[in-house]
Amino acid sequence: MSPEFSEKIQKKIKEIVARYPQKEAAILPVLHVAQQEFGYISSEEEKQVAGILGVKPIRVREVVTFYTMLNREPVGKYHVQVCSNLSCSLLGAEKLIDYLKQKLGVEPGKTTKDKKFTLSLVECLGACEQAPCMMVNFEYYGNLDKKKIDKILDDLK
Ligand code: FES
Repeated sequence: MSPEFSEKIQKKIKEIVARYPQKEAAILPVLHVAQQEFGYISSEEEKQVAGILGVKPIRVREVVTFYTMLNREPVGKYHVQVCSNLSCSLLGAEKLIDYLKQKLGVEPGKTTKDKKFTLSLVECLGACEQAPCMMVNFEYYGNLDKKKIDKILDDLK
């Protein structure tokens, strides 16, 4: 069972909820806070958020499973999310994904043994003009090639 939200986080959640005319509208920002607190959103956090917002847990699950920025399992310190959608694919994303798999030594959806990197494939990141692109945590990296990937990963080590 996951820990309860700390008092500090509960206070933050109350502040967020107060900004919205209906509690349910605060699902996404509250989930972001929950993820900051626990690193991911398990079914226990889903239930806690549902309880706070007065919605059914399935409503929270729908949101968590729709947005790839919400993690349902623990991720590494750096979450490398590579776009595998059309624009990025046309500009070589698949070769870069293979390169990242080889460099990190993990398949998409997996975390390195040292818990430093999680590699994920995601749908369009909304930055097609920079294709191929990826995000590391909340940072965008575009116009990728192997050399850029080397530099990005080296800077994170
Ligand atoms: S297709 Fe990759 S960012 Fe849109």
